Amino acid sequence: MTLGSEGKAFERELAEFLGVRHSLLVNSGSSANLIAISALTSPKLSDNRRIKPGDEVITVAAGFPTTVAPIVQVGAVPVFIDADPVTGNPRCDQLELAYSSGKTKAVMMSHALGNPFDLFATLTFCRKYNLWLIEDNCDSLGCSYSMPRSLALSLGFTENSPGLDDGPERIVRWTGTWGDISTQSFYPPHHLTMGEGGAVNIVHDIKLKVFAESFRDWGRDCWCPSGVDNTCGKRFERKLGELPYGYDHKYTYSHLGYNLKPLDLQGAIGRIQLKRLPEFIEARKRNWDILRVGLASQRHVLDFSLPTHATKWDKDDGFCWDETGCRTDCSWFGFKISVSKGAPFVRTELARVLDKHKIGNRMLFGGNLTRQPAFAELNKQRKNAFRVASRLSGSDDIMNNALFLGTYPGLSKTMLDYEINIIKQFIVNLASP
Ligand SMILES: Cc1ncc(COP(=O)(O)O)c(C=O)c1O
Repeated sequence: MTLGSEGKAFERELAEFLGVRHSLLVNSGSSANLIAISALTSPKLSDNRRIKPGDEVITVAAGFPTTVAPIVQVGAVPVFIDADPVTGNPRCDQLELAYSSGKTKAVMMSHALGNPFDLFATLTFCRKYNLWLIEDNCDSLGCSYSMPRSLALSLGFTENSPGLDDGPERIVRWTGTWGDISTQSFYPPHHLTMGEGGAVNIVHDIKLKVFAESFRDWGRDCWCPSGVDNTCGKRFERKLGELPYGYDHKYTYSHLGYNLKPLDLQGAIGRIQLKRLPEFIEARKRNWDILRVGLASQRHVLDFSLPTHATKWDKDDGFCWDETGCRTDCSWFGFKISVSKGAPFVRTELARVLDKHKIGNRMLFGGNLTRQPAFAELNKQRKNAFRVASRLSGSDDIMNNALFLGTYPGLSKTMLDYEINIIKQFIVNLASP
């Protein structure tokens, strides 16, 4: 029942789909984030790259807590930049502000609700200071990001992801394949589900796979799969640490690890789901469009999300793009709405009405995470447990004014029209009580 042939096959198929060196299955997206950053703490890494206690990792204040908690859990210090209320994504123009020479080792951020963050700006920053990039891709499987070939080459990218093509002048890749490591969640509302589950994608550097696998599998040095012994042929012929020569390699631990494997059964579910991924991606895009068109007339009281690098949306022409030449193609996790300043109602009133009519709605997860009790308590206990690089007014705005509706592929046009009509009715009733 433990991870075996089905899990192995799913790992291979997911890695093939994304075009990464390896995908490692774990039991949740949160575990994937924990493993991803733990891998970068391995003593087998060089001193200047290894994340050590007290080192800093830049992240974004608005989002899901387990993008950030693993940074604290490995003894590092999260440094928060703000989020942009329009895209929901990190303000990548603040990365320089957050940088601290000799301390910053990595950037770890999520693509918010299926909207890729500014990967060109982030990667340019990471290359400049030789930093790791962990992409939390938990909400963004099937999103892609493209840039002019000349920009991609300047960052070292020469190839498109499998199945993607944006013409000879551009490079287009899935999110989760631009950084060093990325993570997926397969919890039910995500693009694929295994009931519970997740994955760590090792994009290029195969030694990170060995570290990630070790942290997932009890911290052991040995890489034999469950039920298999002596793959390396040197099981009783090593001398590691202060152990006696020949001590069983299967029981030799090079990391303080966990056991975060899923069941093989979950791998089997994932394989069936993966076959439907292209269809799911299209359905999420279609559902977002239906909501956007249906609610366009409510622009006087509602603000709608824009994909990163888009400057506006129009019903007939779609999106206009900024002058960077970079583009995003969103496989939406959710449809984010913000209540405009001056609207005759507040976000929570809208959330209550949606709830009353059985329309699932969510805040942008934890909002400004620094205001969550867990982080407030952490700050009380240890003054330097995290650092805030700028005012977090955008994250506060998201926390106070935004919510999102699902774009789940199983939603029919009738269901989405029902959602649109309930929202319109609520707004009309407020205007003429
Ligand atoms: C951005 C992000 N990261 C990580 C996670 C954690 O995933 P899981 O629920 O599988 O632990 C989530 C959960 O929805 C998420 O939205």
